[in-house]
Amino acid sequence: MHAQVQPVAAQVPHEIPTRNKALLKWVDEVVQLCQPDRVHWCDGSDAEYDQLCAELVQGGTFKRLNETLRPNSYLAWSDPSDVARVEDRTFICSEDKNDAGPTNNWVDPTEMRATLTGLFKGCMKGRTLYVVPFSMGPLGSPIAHIGVELTDSAYAAVNMKLMTRMGGKVLDVLGEDGHFVPCLHSVGAPLDSAKLAGQKDVVWPCNKEHKYIVHFPETQEIWSYGSGYGGNALLGKKCFALRIASIMGRQDADQSGGWLAEHMLILGVESPAGKKHYVTAAFPSACGKTNFAMLVPPKEFADAGWKVTTVGDDIAWIKPVKDEKTGETRLHAINPEAGFFGVAPGTSLSTNPNCINTLKANVIFTNVALTPDGDVWWEGLTKEPPGALTDWTGQAWTPGCGRPAAHANARFTVSAAQCPSIDENWDSPAGVPISAMIFGGRRSTTVPLVTEAANWSDGVYMAATLGSETTAAIVGQVGVVRRDPFAMLAFCGYNMADYFNHWIGMQDKITVKPRLYTVNWFRKDESGKFIWPGYGENMRVLKWIVERVEGKAAATESPLGFIPSYRDLDWTGSGFGEDKFASLTSVDTAQWRQELKLHEELLTKLSLRLPVAVKSRYDQLSAALA
Ligand code: GTP
Ligand code: SPV
Ligand code: MN
Repeated sequence: MHAQVQPVAAQVPHEIPTRNKALLKWVDEVVQLCQPDRVHWCDGSDAEYDQLCAELVQGGTFKRLNETLRPNSYLAWSDPSDVARVEDRTFICSEDKNDAGPTNNWVDPTEMRATLTGLFKGCMKGRTLYVVPFSMGPLGSPIAHIGVELTDSAYAAVNMKLMTRMGGKVLDVLGEDGHFVPCLHSVGAPLDSAKLAGQKDVVWPCNKEHKYIVHFPETQEIWSYGSGYGGNALLGKKCFALRIASIMGRQDADQSGGWLAEHMLILGVESPAGKKHYVTAAFPSACGKTNFAMLVPPKEFADAGWKVTTVGDDIAWIKPVKDEKTGETRLHAINPEAGFFGVAPGTSLSTNPNCINTLKANVIFTNVALTPDGDVWWEGLTKEPPGALTDWTGQAWTPGCGRPAAHANARFTVSAAQCPSIDENWDSPAGVPISAMIFGGRRSTTVPLVTEAANWSDGVYMAATLGSETTAAIVGQVGVVRRDPFAMLAFCGYNMADYFNHWIGMQDKITVKPRLYTVNWFRKDESGKFIWPGYGENMRVLKWIVERVEGKAAATESPLGFIPSYRDLDWTGSGFGEDKFASLTSVDTAQWRQELKLHEELLTKLSLRLPVAVKSRYDQLSAALA
């Protein structure tokens, strides 16, 4: 017999740290439906974190890493079937199918509720239900939003502690009547209590048959079933801070002009003269946001006084803010998260030293390899791999064995505050003013290193038609070029054409517009090697961008927009040649005619609600490239 959990109202009052009526009622309903053995209200303390991690170690989900080499850090290996976001199992269940739009999976909300209610019934038997109150954005700030995740995964709970402002303080802010977004999560693996005696739980419970990542726009609810991994399970991130928040930002357009929830990093860049700009960049999953956000300038740039600081590495909430002194209205961005859930493979002291230094202690690693001395390793961490490892599937690994040691979507979870390049304003409730916004994809051909849009609408067109090769961050085929508008294909919680309209409309809400750019660090030569060195070298492009903003750098007009010539970039300390640069920035008309066909496919799909400005920019480009 599994223990009866008393209704919340009947539990000892000191165990229930809230009087919020809606929350108490919801927890009661979920307890009745999911039938957990226990309810644990997370207070967010370090002691609680340590306790939960110790339990995860005991249960075999976590390995504690070597205390000297990697203090207070853990390694988890997931089930091999549960390693990334599941886009084909992600749903926007709006009342009207057109409100989800042609780029989202849609199921009628009544039907989906029935399906989910069936799946969630008894799904937490034998498990603990963790109540995880969290704030996206600085606690109590007017731009923050509160969510509560109810989850049967202790792994999710401890990750949420690093990724968000989590715990009892959030309940204090919530008070008796405060609003929160309900985020229900189950790994979908009940422990049959009758059989429980003597039977061990698996180390990574999940449901191999059924996975559902579901959003109900009208009621702003999230239900996630069957996966314990990343964005499928840490519901503050993609589900709330992007899908639900994008809906909120557009709804607010009716009253306050609205705001944007974007798949963007935010960085600060300071010139030797002490002038500081903030820049956002939207790249699809595993296409370089964390790396760009933590960029270390080339030595000559650093010596000259260039500094780059990190505000966020994955999500930006962006709002028009009026400066009462100057009367100007600009876009300001905040990072709603408090931690990084970043891609491990490819991260090294040479590619991203700030990241490596962030990961010295207090980290949760997922699906990287284990070294014999109890530390971690992944492809790219060192030039020479260690002689022997245990790979992410728990098998013995040696160099040349033919298998990767870490999964390609292996990740680290760590507090943003540990990042050496963290910006002084990273958790300022006012956010930071944005001078430029960059959009980029992973394209081995066609797309130039950098292009500046001539104006806001052209920039919206460039972002709307962004293409990128798929990566291991998504379950499915890797390396397939697809349209990923604004890097938001998987994250826009409403009709993508309405989203384009919201972006077009944003220019009327601000008096000083950021300049808009596209970049591509990933062009390859005939032998399949990246032409551009990337990483810290991206500083040369970033410098050109901020100097364009200041009216100081030159560019050449192309059909796509303004592209720098070799002489327009600062090559101090670089041996990168003019010929190579030409091959990175060339616009091949034949290739672009092909590319426009792919634009057209997307625009046709979205034609019902497509903004006129986007359609006419397409016509203009077609004519220019004909
Ligand atoms: P998500 O967390 O999935 O949203 O990803 P992200 O956009 O933050 O990607 P991240 O910065 O973690 O980079 C993913 C992969 O791209 C890593 O393997 C990096 O090493 C690689 N990468 C990042 N920047 C560059 C670059 O400038 N050039 C090249 N060639 N690779 C890069
Ligand atoms: C992404 O896939 O874009 C991520 C990782 O940032 S996850 O949190 O799993 O969505
Ligand atoms: Mn992301």
